[in-house]
Amino acid sequence: MQDLAASLPARLIPADAREVLDLCAAPGGKTMQLAAAGHRVTSVDSSESRLGRLRENLERTHLAAELVAADARNWEPGRAVDAILLDAPCSATGTFRRHPEVLYRARPKIVADNAELQRRLLDRAAQWLKPGGRLVYSVCSLEPQEGEEVIEGFLGANSDFAISTKVDLPNFAKPSEQGWVRIVPGLLEAEGGLDGFFIARLVRGG
Ligand SMILES: C[S@@+](CC[C@H](N)C(=O)[O-])C[C@H]1O[C@@H](n2cnc3c(N)ncnc32)[C@H](O)[C@@H]1O
Repeated sequence: MQDLAASLPARLIPADAREVLDLCAAPGGKTMQLAAAGHRVTSVDSSESRLGRLRENLERTHLAAELVAADARNWEPGRAVDAILLDAPCSATGTFRRHPEVLYRARPKIVADNAELQRRLLDRAAQWLKPGGRLVYSVCSLEPQEGEEVIEGFLGANSDFAISTKVDLPNFAKPSEQGWVRIVPGLLEAEGGLDGFFIARLVRGG
């Protein structure tokens, strides 16, 4: 079961995107959403054991995806794709309601190391997108270093990409003025709240 906030990034992959890369995919909540929506999905994760859970989840739900065990910093898809979902590893501070220990673990160095990895993964993923394709970046972190600052840095260095603000999400997840979506745990409090998330959708020009 995914938190409602965790289900939002996959909803930003355009319905007509045929081939979709799901990077950092395990245990597969988003892969299952993408496969159920009819996309041809390749799911990449560096953890064999977490990919095992993804495989079980696909079998249980009778959904299909190609699974690749690889570090996305070294792997190559071999062809450009229509859309990419990068649900990057992060400090997970947005999940503190269910996992209070994340607040203790998220020391400045952990956050900075995650931000460095996120930047590298995003730079790499961006190379694999067709012109006009969409790349959705998400983290379940409340830290601007892992969200807003990663996207600002990327856009500053990649003038062929822009934030694609035309998104169709529920009212509680309206994009900010800058075009990204910031979910904070206090949203929908009466219904039990949400995990904190940062989500940005980028489009490649051309
Ligand atoms: C936030 S979790 C992904 C959750 C998943 N997208 C889902 O919806 O179930 C981050 C994942 O990134 C994977 N990961 C970490 N570093 C990676 C790397 N360099 N290349 C590929 N996957 C990586 C971890 O194994 C972990 O499964």
